[in-house]
Amino acid sequence: MSVVQYLFGGIFLAFVLILWSRRKFYLLTLKIPGPLGLPLIGMAHKLRKREDILQVIGGIEKTYSKTFLSWLGPFPFLVVSEPNLVGRILNSTDFLNKSLIYNAVAEGTGDGLFSCDTPKWNIHRKAINPTFNQKVLVNFVPIFNEEVNLFVEEVTQNVSNHSKDLNLSISLQKLSLNNAARTTMGKQMSSLTQTESDLLHCFQFVLKIMTKKLFSPWYQFKFIFQRTNYFQKYEDSKMAMRSFIRKLIKDKHEKGLDTEILEDPDKIPSNKNIFIEHAINLANSGTFSWQDVEDEANVIVFGAFETTANTVGYILMCLAMHPQYQQRLFEEVSSVIGPQRDSYISYEQIQDMVYMDMVINETMRVMAPVPLIARTTKCDVKITDDITLPKGLQVAIDIFNMQRDEDIWGEHARCFYPDHFLKDNLADKHPYAFIPFSKGMRNCIGWRYALISIKITLAKILLNFKISTSFLFEELEFQEDITLKLKKYPKLDIEIRN
Ligand code: HEM
Repeated sequence: MSVVQYLFGGIFLAFVLILWSRRKFYLLTLKIPGPLGLPLIGMAHKLRKREDILQVIGGIEKTYSKTFLSWLGPFPFLVVSEPNLVGRILNSTDFLNKSLIYNAVAEGTGDGLFSCDTPKWNIHRKAINPTFNQKVLVNFVPIFNEEVNLFVEEVTQNVSNHSKDLNLSISLQKLSLNNAARTTMGKQMSSLTQTESDLLHCFQFVLKIMTKKLFSPWYQFKFIFQRTNYFQKYEDSKMAMRSFIRKLIKDKHEKGLDTEILEDPDKIPSNKNIFIEHAINLANSGTFSWQDVEDEANVIVFGAFETTANTVGYILMCLAMHPQYQQRLFEEVSSVIGPQRDSYISYEQIQDMVYMDMVINETMRVMAPVPLIARTTKCDVKITDDITLPKGLQVAIDIFNMQRDEDIWGEHARCFYPDHFLKDNLADKHPYAFIPFSKGMRNCIGWRYALISIKITLAKILLNFKISTSFLFEELEFQEDITLKLKKYPKLDIEIRN
């Protein structure tokens, strides 16, 4: 036999071995319906454009089934939008590890809580959990009040001057970055040398490229990604974000820590800017490395600012499009707080705003701030008598389409209709049919933080401004960007309340 024949024989054998090692995935395609897509790339060509992703996935669910199997490049993906199966997945330790596509997130933000796998995740989650307990969060209420007051002042000035520069979504992002820097890192943005706008731009650019990498598996190959136009800007933006976080940690570390916390890391005093102090303690005690402190700080600030700002922006949009609900919410807020526009809003007062809860929930239902999440099976998992999901299968949960499913939410499923969250209307809903913060062991660590800050922001905005728009809710077009984005943002008109 010639060398060439040996070579071909070897390649053929390797090919057969690869197919054999993946036989469980191929066999699964016989049991679960779904489009296979094209050889080698699977459905990647249909998911290339971010504005198509949610619609394409929703369309496949309609054509095939609410649980379908497809391929993204060489990876088989199970996509699930049935609350029952979603609940089983989110409550099982077999699905605790994130999907391979989160490698792009780990590479962009650092391998912290959001993307890391077990057993590192178990240790980190347990260590960080106490910094998000209710007692700690209630102490952030004065900071949220102060920062929203500054935001209201800025918007009032812009509206009074008929400023053309008024961009509410940028102002909201600045507000939540300020909140995150103060509450988790103990630092006021105005005391930093980098400007808020520069940093915001860096965070936004990294997020944009992370999403590109997430849905284009070929960018996982460094030699391809390095040849793209945005590689250098991505590296520079990441560096700027990192330097910002590193400086916050260094400042805090140099200032020294509270020895009381050092002795007993579980006992967190309620008057501290907890996360960073606690993380530094964990490094001092050897539970975290300094890289862990940096990665987790980065992930927390990232996790906190974008999602929260977008959610407030979407709530305001929905209220502008539906003045009757805005009026009802304004009446609730003024009856709880009183007519004073600059009143301090307490934790107890926001607990009394019941209609506000309905409005926030309805916005997060119909415009899921994190539309898709994904996991990997840790071992073979039997889900029905004849279906076993093989180890290494990628499993995506389609929160966006599940929360807009007419079979679950009825005729108003795709409308903004806060009554969906009336007690009676919720009675027949599956507990996993509404999961904007995910659920189970790996749910959002910051969900209470987010709701407190959103409620204070919203109450103050409504007391001060009336918002309107000529844009219709039905005209909104949604885009997957790790967090939800819109193809076109409606122009909001802001009027100062008398
Ligand atoms: C409206 C605001 C928010 C929404 C809708 C939201 C949504 C989510 C969702 C859906 C997940 C699960 C992701 C997955 O399984 O892949 C998640 C995880 C996470 N979120 Fe949030 N989030 C919000 C605000 C926040 C805030 C304010 C923080 C921090 C202060 C935060 C920090 C995190 C972290 C660290 C994780 C990873 C948790 C883990 O895997 O253990 N989020 N969030």
